[in-house]
Amino acid sequence: MEMASLMQVLHQLPRPEDPNLILGPHTSDDAGVYRIDEGRALVVTVDFFPPIVDDPYLFGQIATANALSDVYAMGGTPLVATTVVCFPKDLPVIVLSDILQGSCDKLKEAGAVIGGGHTINDREIKYGLSVTGIVEPERMITSSGAKSGDTLILTKPIGAGVVTTALKAGRISTEDAADTLESMKRLNNVASRIMVETGVNACTDVTGFGLLGHLYEMLSASGLAAIIEAESIPIFNHATTLVRKRRNRPAAIWTNGEFLSPHVRLSESVDSSVELLLYDPQTSGGLLISVGEERKDTLLERLRREGVDAKPIGMVVEKEGEWTIEVR
Ligand code: CO
Ligand code: CO
Ligand code: CO
Repeated sequence: MEMASLMQVLHQLPRPEDPNLILGPHTSDDAGVYRIDEGRALVVTVDFFPPIVDDPYLFGQIATANALSDVYAMGGTPLVATTVVCFPKDLPVIVLSDILQGSCDKLKEAGAVIGGGHTINDREIKYGLSVTGIVEPERMITSSGAKSGDTLILTKPIGAGVVTTALKAGRISTEDAADTLESMKRLNNVASRIMVETGVNACTDVTGFGLLGHLYEMLSASGLAAIIEAESIPIFNHATTLVRKRRNRPAAIWTNGEFLSPHVRLSESVDSSVELLLYDPQTSGGLLISVGEERKDTLLERLRREGVDAKPIGMVVEKEGEWTIEVR
């Protein structure tokens, strides 16, 4: 769904009255948080979508890493998941069993289990999970705590929407997309644990609204702005070349850009391919972390030491002009 219409619909929902609902549908966070006692709260979230790759096992892994990501973005630990499956009558059932195998393997890696699920017939496959995790309310990280002077850190490259669009159409090989596929199936668990241990101000995961969409949500939640250095943004192999061809651009590049561009100020020096990729919808994207100056070096060093290729991409600043995001 487009960003503007989704926000409108969510804001029209009646305000939940249960005081134990710490985080509900009126914030930009993708997960809900429900307090069960003094020191514990449940994190609940759901994500499902049609295959973005042809290999069913890989699709199961990616869909699962993606669904778990909203729990990790809050600094939570996933516990149990239920599957959401749409499956065509005329497809061999081995396809479904491969998707589920990929999914189970990823959940196992995450230390979580499948608790059940629901399947319906549909013309097109869709797969995903509803995930329940746990978080200490005091240590929970949301998208709304960013502070002026924070460094913004991104833990995975962008461009997955473009690369998978080209891959599905056979315009690049699986080998050429290897870094993208590897990244999409990677859990955000290590990055999540390290950010909780280090202490950060805000976090969100980068998915369908693209890097700038999720950054915009984070900044709006705290009334701040950001300056992003285009050259420092990590991008998947071949994405910059692929995005130059219109046919490789997922439709959401256009809808995200249309909604966000009034809030973005772009320097002339920014390459037009990079500009498009800023709006590219991601699947199982990285964490976008807003961390205070005094902790940023520790965070980056620890992330890198544990194999997370995190990059600082810009800074949070006071909002002074019309724009919320400056890209230079
Ligand atoms: Co989500
Ligand atoms: Co999310
Ligand atoms: Co059922």
